[in-house]
Amino acid sequence: MKKRVWNVALGELLNVEGIVAEDVVSRNQAVILPGGVSLPALRETRPEIVSLLLKHGITHVKVKSVPTITASEFRTALSSIVPSVAELNPLLTQIAIHQFGAIYRNIEDRTMRERGIRTMMMIASRLPREIRRTSQITLSLVGAEERERERAHIHSINVALLTGYIAQKVFPVWPAFVEACIRGGLFHDVGKAFFPQFVWEDASGMKRGGKIFPGEAKIFNCHPLLGETLLKDTDVRDLHVLGAVRSHHEKWSGNGVPDRLKGEDIPMSGRIVAVADAFENLTSRFLEGDVYRSDQAISTMIGLTNSDFDSRIVRALLSAIGLYPPGTVVLLSDQRVGIVLETKERDLLCPRVLICVDALGRRVSPFETLKIRKEGNIYIKEALDDFSKRKLEPYVPVSMSSRLG
Ligand SMILES: [Fe+2]
Ligand SMILES: [Fe+2]
Repeated sequence: MKKRVWNVALGELLNVEGIVAEDVVSRNQAVILPGGVSLPALRETRPEIVSLLLKHGITHVKVKSVPTITASEFRTALSSIVPSVAELNPLLTQIAIHQFGAIYRNIEDRTMRERGIRTMMMIASRLPREIRRTSQITLSLVGAEERERERAHIHSINVALLTGYIAQKVFPVWPAFVEACIRGGLFHDVGKAFFPQFVWEDASGMKRGGKIFPGEAKIFNCHPLLGETLLKDTDVRDLHVLGAVRSHHEKWSGNGVPDRLKGEDIPMSGRIVAVADAFENLTSRFLEGDVYRSDQAISTMIGLTNSDFDSRIVRALLSAIGLYPPGTVVLLSDQRVGIVLETKERDLLCPRVLICVDALGRRVSPFETLKIRKEGNIYIKEALDDFSKRKLEPYVPVSMSSRLG
């Protein structure tokens, strides 16, 4: 049987294929390299990691073999599956990201800004129907790794999608509220558009080695209020939308900003956006720290229930995406490797899985689907990787593309 975990000397680390098997920690227990990171990706994005590890006296790293399948192959396989796993129309997401760019660029120009916000509101009215149709939201979220400049916009779109998905689960017969939540999710960080570009693009000081200057945190904490003011100024009167924007950094324990509201006093739309925002932050590089797989993010969120979040909302997220959200690469108890396609409520540990690699480490061709059964003897042993966020091509408006073409 193919060896699944082996010890790799530091000098060889970036030459092997695989993923980091477990967190690599420093003497004071800080995570230097998180488990689950793909080595080919590390080679591209953080070649300096080897010297960093060396500085901490680390000589070997445990590496796991990975399934011989790429994220784009998974996407191709996904489109051929019957019955299909519905995803959100990527064009809609691309247009929304493009539109967000226009709002941020023109934030000082009132006419342009208002026009941009109104267009975005129209896009938002399309989203509830799309989200209802989308069975597995984690497969419709967008990855921002290669699109650094649009990171803030992609984050807002992902938060809106997650917010709508959760709101729909909690309030299935209140469509007006679901739509307001989506709008709140879209605009939750719009107050940041008033900050100099380097602040909102580098909100965590990531590009400066995680350094945040004392004044910056204070300025940064103003963005919920600035966002609310901006929307009011554009004639947005819906209290659920305004509440979502103003209160998305409140904490269940009462330690949040800007009003230190506690528990049930926090508007429901704000509580939902807070959960969506945290999940999206954990699974992207929007904030400092390491990127979590979706399954790690959901576990972390469960741990923060009652201190930061409304437990009812975290439970709704959990029951919507499962313990192994769609897109998670999993190792099964019989050593086969597959990718989670969908999870069903009340069946969180038993998703449908696309089997890509057999027990001997050979690629399965064509890929097969398998439904993990509660009473069956095959179960998910662990998560290996995460293909949940997809890559989107940049959007080229029609008039421009026809001129180019
Ligand atoms: Fe925010
Ligand atoms: Fe945010």
